[in-house]
Amino acid sequence: MVGPNLALLSLSSAALIAAQSFQSTPVLGWNSYNKDSCSPTQDGITKTINALADRGFVAAGYNFFQIDCGWASRDGQRNSSTGALKIDTNAFPNGLKPLSDLARSKGMKWTMYSDAGVRMCDPQSPSPVLGSLGHEAQDAEFFKSLNTEYVKYDNCYADGPAASQNAPKDARTDFPSRFGVMWKELQRVGIPGMLICQWGTPYSSSSGLQGPKDWTKGISTSFRLSDDITQGWASMYRIYNQAVHIAASGQVGPGHIADADLLEVGNKGMTFDEQATHFAAWAMLKSALMISTDVSALSADTVKVLQNKDLLAINQDSAVKPITLKQRWSLDRDLWSGDLANGDVAVLVVDLSNTRRTLSVQLSTLGIESATIKDLWSGTTTSGSSFSKQVNAHGSIALRLSNIKRRSTTTNYKYISASTGSLASGASISSCSGCTSTNKVGNLGGPSNGALTLSNIRTSQATQTVRFDYVNCDVGYAFSGDTRNNERNASISVNGGAAKTISFPLTGYNWDKDVTKGYAVELSGFSTTGANSIVIKGANGAYAPDFDRVGVVA
Ligand SMILES: *[C@@H]1O[C@H](CO)[C@@H](O)[C@H](O)[C@H]1NC(C)=O
Ligand SMILES: *[C@@H]1O[C@H](CO)[C@@H](O)[C@H](O)[C@H]1NC(C)=O
Repeated sequence: MVGPNLALLSLSSAALIAAQSFQSTPVLGWNSYNKDSCSPTQDGITKTINALADRGFVAAGYNFFQIDCGWASRDGQRNSSTGALKIDTNAFPNGLKPLSDLARSKGMKWTMYSDAGVRMCDPQSPSPVLGSLGHEAQDAEFFKSLNTEYVKYDNCYADGPAASQNAPKDARTDFPSRFGVMWKELQRVGIPGMLICQWGTPYSSSSGLQGPKDWTKGISTSFRLSDDITQGWASMYRIYNQAVHIAASGQVGPGHIADADLLEVGNKGMTFDEQATHFAAWAMLKSALMISTDVSALSADTVKVLQNKDLLAINQDSAVKPITLKQRWSLDRDLWSGDLANGDVAVLVVDLSNTRRTLSVQLSTLGIESATIKDLWSGTTTSGSSFSKQVNAHGSIALRLSNIKRRSTTTNYKYISASTGSLASGASISSCSGCTSTNKVGNLGGPSNGALTLSNIRTSQATQTVRFDYVNCDVGYAFSGDTRNNERNASISVNGGAAKTISFPLTGYNWDKDVTKGYAVELSGFSTTGANSIVIKGANGAYAPDFDRVGVVA
């Protein structure tokens, strides 16, 4: 028993060391998918490599060059002498080695793409392109022969080659084993980096459902936190909501990067300001930043966004601490912040109102008295205790705070367990092992519009930040008509006043365990002298999240 275990231990710790030295910070680079879908070509790739160098992207740090799906042959055959995948010589008549050489000559690192299924993802259905499952060793050797340093490893056709098996979104029991085989082979041939691209689908483990942040550590250097990005603000918002609980988990760090998917900056579907907000969010969430557009066609203003030195420095900060959502004013704005290695703080305020207006941030909300404040979009520096700026619809304020003077914030909260409230119209109590109350109230909203009323609440503030401990594991995926966006709304009213629609982002995958604690919501209308009530229902016939506890200012 001791012998084999020791051998396993030394092998996996060697792998872990390699993992941590690679992607000690997120990768920056270019990927073909959002530009070419699965049809990259030799000419297009050559032009892109040259444009990345000529337009200053390589110098700015974008040094990973990645061809996504579409590089492999469509004849369903492997290389008869090596057993590895073959190159599609219609798309790449000279093969991939000259392109790897060209990218490397420009100061970039070469990276590849394959799939942990029997076929690769492809717009043609069923896909005629083979995947790597069962041939990981041969494919890893082939990638190494191209001087590959990083592999994006996808999840199409995990169970078989039929059209219906293209993109399975169900929870799976085989994730660590199936992806782990390629990781081991890449380590064996000396390729240090791998992205596990399972679209944010859950692993069904013996202890219940787990998201990718929980099972990919030690068998990759990064994991996709969501389903694919598509064009438009709604897709960016879906992923951004899914990132909330991952960023707050404390599990992201060097060698374990949460990848929010390729950038849509430069593509159709979002305004310039939406693209800038998307970029700042990805940068501060410490996602990989993979440009995925025609870089030769980018406007000078968009180049400036992508090459923003201050945001790139925050993305590459050695602490690799993602910003976390401090407060959402639903349909109005989000406030995020995160610590940097030198004690500075990154701040992002995002307009959710979709109108041009003035956004403000009071540093006291972040427990800060005053600071030197650098506006990362304008480059100007001020100092003080607040910052305001006019932004366009879905625009953002991106700041770096330094010389920070902290203030002590001790607001005392008292918590009311949801299950002590009165339940109506189908609302029900269920056990919840992650809940402080050990149970939670669910079936709020929905067809019967289940409702929860908490009464006899005493508090000392009329308008206050109420804290909610809640569960929302309603994961949204991008395709097949799924419009879920990784938030659930609740309709909340205080003392019978007008109900407010409050957004509660995804908390994880496991309805029994994945509780977000202390979610901040500003509510008004409390009496500071008498008893108060809070009513929680669904909004627009949809289900609200489940609630563990509600905290009010004591
Ligand atoms: C098969 O692999 C060999 C060795 O790498 C290579 O020279 C040859 O071009 C490959 N053949 C095809 C059809 O990919
Ligand atoms: C939450 O409510 C807002 C405002 O009514 C709406 O735009 C959004 O689509 C809702 N989200 C969901 C998931 O229903």
